[in-house]
Amino acid sequence: MSEKRLKIAVQKSGRLSDATLDVLKRCGLRINQSKNKLITHVKNMSIDILFVRDDDIPGLVMEGVVDLGFVGDNIMQEVSLQRAKFGEQAEFRQLISLDYGNCRLSIATTEEDVFTSIKDLEGTRIATSYPYSLGRYLDEQGVSAKIVHLTGSVEVAPRAGLADAICDLVSTGVTLEANGLREDEVILRSSATLVQRPIIEDETRQELIDRLIVRINGVMQAKESKYIMLHAPADKVDAIIDLLPGSETPTVLPLAGSEQQVAIHAVSKETVFWETMESLKQLGGSSILVLPIEKMLA
Ligand code: PRP
Ligand code: ZN
Repeated sequence: MSEKRLKIAVQKSGRLSDATLDVLKRCGLRINQSKNKLITHVKNMSIDILFVRDDDIPGLVMEGVVDLGFVGDNIMQEVSLQRAKFGEQAEFRQLISLDYGNCRLSIATTEEDVFTSIKDLEGTRIATSYPYSLGRYLDEQGVSAKIVHLTGSVEVAPRAGLADAICDLVSTGVTLEANGLREDEVILRSSATLVQRPIIEDETRQELIDRLIVRINGVMQAKESKYIMLHAPADKVDAIIDLLPGSETPTVLPLAGSEQQVAIHAVSKETVFWETMESLKQLGGSSILVLPIEKMLA
């Protein structure tokens, strides 16, 4: 039974967690989150959500342990480089670039240091949690430096005397500033991405993924409220209006050259978006358009 369920890996706590769960919820997944659980069964769809460390997500996807993962490009790249180095497979498919989790992997030095170019780091020690991405960049730049691999608290390495510079993720820049560090050079820009394991053998699972992709793309484009326009059978108007909660007094318009069909325009909340559209279609709705609303004045 559970073997058939789609498995999605999500970061347990960190940069991407809240935004990812928000996207999934907007896609219509009913998720009961309980803080310390590794796995959550989605109530209304055949999907299980696994809450894991972000660094584990690429491996879980590449090994086919999960079907999908929401993860930062930066981590996907780091693990891919690492695997390539050890001759391990690093296969995955990138499905959607998401519009959150923006950050960059940057080299930083202390505010007292003078930095004119990456060449200044020749012969120094650079602390990082991203040794493979940094290593590749240094190779490309023809700089040889000692990479000090730390899994956390990279920003304190210069002060602790462990390194001369760091290479770490920067988002708001608050962490660097709080540690007297200055961002000198961006080596990689990253945002969240949806990745899939290389092969999905099971047809129903693939169909579910396809449905999910359509929904995620819809969510990405959506803001809060939507303007819904559709054609509907005249005798289904009441039933259709009942399906549009959160919409005050929809407009019903005659359609030129048709007695049986009318046009309905309404403002509706996005939380009922997908279910609503699917049900509207079942009631005979057609040409269903959902438009973003730029401004509202009640
Ligand atoms: C990164 C990085 C810094 C912080 C920078 O950690 O290591 O600590 O984010 O963000 P800021 O510029 O907004 O201050 P991350 O959230 O990726 O945690 P992780 O390494 O545990 O995944
Ligand atoms: Zn991490």
